[in-house]
Amino acid sequence: MNLKDCYNFQDFRKLAKKKLPSPIFHYIDGGSDDEITLRRNTKSFDDCDLVPNVLTSVGNPDLSTTIFGKKINLPVFLAPTAMQRLYHHEGDKASAKAAEKFRTFYSMSTMANNTIEEISKISKGPKLFQLYVHKDQSITDDLIERCKNSGFDGMCLTVDTLVAGNREKDHRTGFTTPPKLTLQSLMSFATHPLWVFNYLTHAKFELANVAKKTDKGTNISKSVIEYINEQYDPKMNWKDAEHCVKKWNGPFALKGVMSVEDAKKAIDIGCTAIIISNHGGRQLDGSRSPFDQVKEISDAVGDKLEIILDGGVRRGTHVLKAIAAGAKACSFGKMFLFALSAGGQEGVEKVLQNMQDEIYRNMVLMGCKNLKELNQSKLIYRK
Ligand code: FNR
Ligand code: LAC
Repeated sequence: MNLKDCYNFQDFRKLAKKKLPSPIFHYIDGGSDDEITLRRNTKSFDDCDLVPNVLTSVGNPDLSTTIFGKKINLPVFLAPTAMQRLYHHEGDKASAKAAEKFRTFYSMSTMANNTIEEISKISKGPKLFQLYVHKDQSITDDLIERCKNSGFDGMCLTVDTLVAGNREKDHRTGFTTPPKLTLQSLMSFATHPLWVFNYLTHAKFELANVAKKTDKGTNISKSVIEYINEQYDPKMNWKDAEHCVKKWNGPFALKGVMSVEDAKKAIDIGCTAIIISNHGGRQLDGSRSPFDQVKEISDAVGDKLEIILDGGVRRGTHVLKAIAAGAKACSFGKMFLFALSAGGQEGVEKVLQNMQDEIYRNMVLMGCKNLKELNQSKLIYRK
């Protein structure tokens, strides 16, 4: 099996599983606790159906939308994800280049292995930075300042990760950052010599944007759970979020909002967007899925904020349903990370091409000329 045979999420996942040592594969694949939320995120799209209109002279539908002040060519983009250097030796560079080609957002995690400056040099495409609020506020402020100087278009602050979720697969495989050979993982590294070769012969692994400020996670190997619990501020509150919004002074989203009440507070502190998300089922297990919340939140505040749905998106029809329910765009994580693991930039391009084809084809089948025509009248929820 190779990239050209990858038609869907499971195909990319299978290929990634072959290429990656198991601690790394499971870090991407796993959710928290019993993975109920992880499964629900995708399943929730099945609880409603699309209702097409026929004979609408649909022609070539327009898939573009505008978020964070940038027009993008398709209503789906790459979610911020940590440590892409582990999945492919080109890491964030591969993702940023692929997103640029499709004229959609690439997002950089605070825990990226490339620097803000490096990526802004190689990509002129739309770029979003994802912020974690550190206990040491100078780290957070420095990240915002550098994004400003490097021409990032938008910023999002992740608010659902004050402590790390309980990802039991990571405990079992002994996943650490940087990866460490342990008794548990030895066999898995030994049976993936190509990955080990690429890992050892390319740029050194580091948490590039914070390495100068903290050695942890770069020279001192840590489990991600330990890293998050040590570095991020569990006392973060609305005042801290407002500080970031003001300091950035541009398009700003909270990532991880799940209630109407918090969406309203996001407006009050000056956010221009929210990302409805439960972190891909990696944090609070048993929490509601983004798709289950999007209609209610959009009905309450959709005219005042850009709403982005994040989590569980695997198909073009999921994007169509999210938009019909009230989102402006969707982001996705695991699917493009499996594609990145399977084939670097080419893999991410393949996943974006598949998405673009699916969204286009399904817009024609829906009889919708543009995304505005995809509204709640096109969606029926099953009883
Ligand atoms: C993530 N996610 C994430 N979110 C974030 O705000 N900062 C981060 O550093 C990361 N890192 C990260 C690593 C990996 C391996 C995954 C799978 C996810 C969450 C991500 O942005 C997004 O919310 C989810 O991936 C969306 O769910 P799906 O598309 O993976 O189902
Ligand atoms: C994760 C963190 C890094 O989901 O956001 O693993």
